[in-house]
Amino acid sequence: MSGGHHDPRRSRVTLASLARLKAEGQPVVMVTAYDHPSAVMAEEAGIDLVLVGDSAANVVLGYDSTVQVGVDELLVLTRAVRRGLRSALLVADLPFGSYEATDADAVHAAQRFVKEGGADAVKLERGGPMIARARAIVEAGIPVVGHIGLTPQAATSLGGYKVQGRTAAQAERLLADALGLQEAGCFAIVLEAVPAAVTELIAPRLDCLTIGIGAGAGTDGQVLVWHDLLGLGSGRLPGFVRTFADLRPRVLQGLADYAAAVRDRSFPAEEHTYAISAEELDALRARLA
Ligand code: KIV
Repeated sequence: MSGGHHDPRRSRVTLASLARLKAEGQPVVMVTAYDHPSAVMAEEAGIDLVLVGDSAANVVLGYDSTVQVGVDELLVLTRAVRRGLRSALLVADLPFGSYEATDADAVHAAQRFVKEGGADAVKLERGGPMIARARAIVEAGIPVVGHIGLTPQAATSLGGYKVQGRTAAQAERLLADALGLQEAGCFAIVLEAVPAAVTELIAPRLDCLTIGIGAGAGTDGQVLVWHDLLGLGSGRLPGFVRTFADLRPRVLQGLADYAAAVRDRSFPAEEHTYAISAEELDALRARLA
């Protein structure tokens, strides 16, 4: 969070301002958001990058994996977030199936997120053949964030939601993917669920921004999922999450109090109702009599 707390005059976060933060050794803050009120709060909190993650599949749409969510669904969320942001950089996730097959698919999907969703940049998962997709999108003029390590869209082929880079060979492959994505023009790379010691060997070898989630403190910035960091989820959290606010019990209490007040007729009270003048009320009574 470059400016600490909300500064209404905060200038727009750009690729250049992010690069400056990296050069100055100032941590970069990214958070996911999926709707307008969350985007407004992220903006007010001075968050640098807001990601409309395909984690929306799990945390707001009720799917059991990210592979089920589609472009049209994420576009609705991206537009809502766009309307809530002023200075933070908006990154939209390219969902599974929208970019992998061809460069043309990748460019088309990315263009939809920029043109229809108002995204500033897109994120795609995996290295290897996806490096060419990242390059094609960058060449089409759209900034790209790479994502390596645990890439949930490939969870089945990775053998589940597991820490990645735990063998020397795997870690070396992660570095090769990161260098490939950087060379393709990615301005940032997310490292997810990677041993901290491996991150510490990879991150200093990269000039682009590195953003970690479960990858230790060796990256230029961190990202967390909105519902995880604010304690709004109901499932088991990955071990790398820190819950910065425990909101679910407070929401449940609020709902329980509301239900009780409706049922015991203490809500709505006088102050929650609209009045009508005595004259008009008398006139109404006379008409109805
Ligand atoms: O979809 C998502 O929320 C993500 C972050 C975890 C980086 O990709």
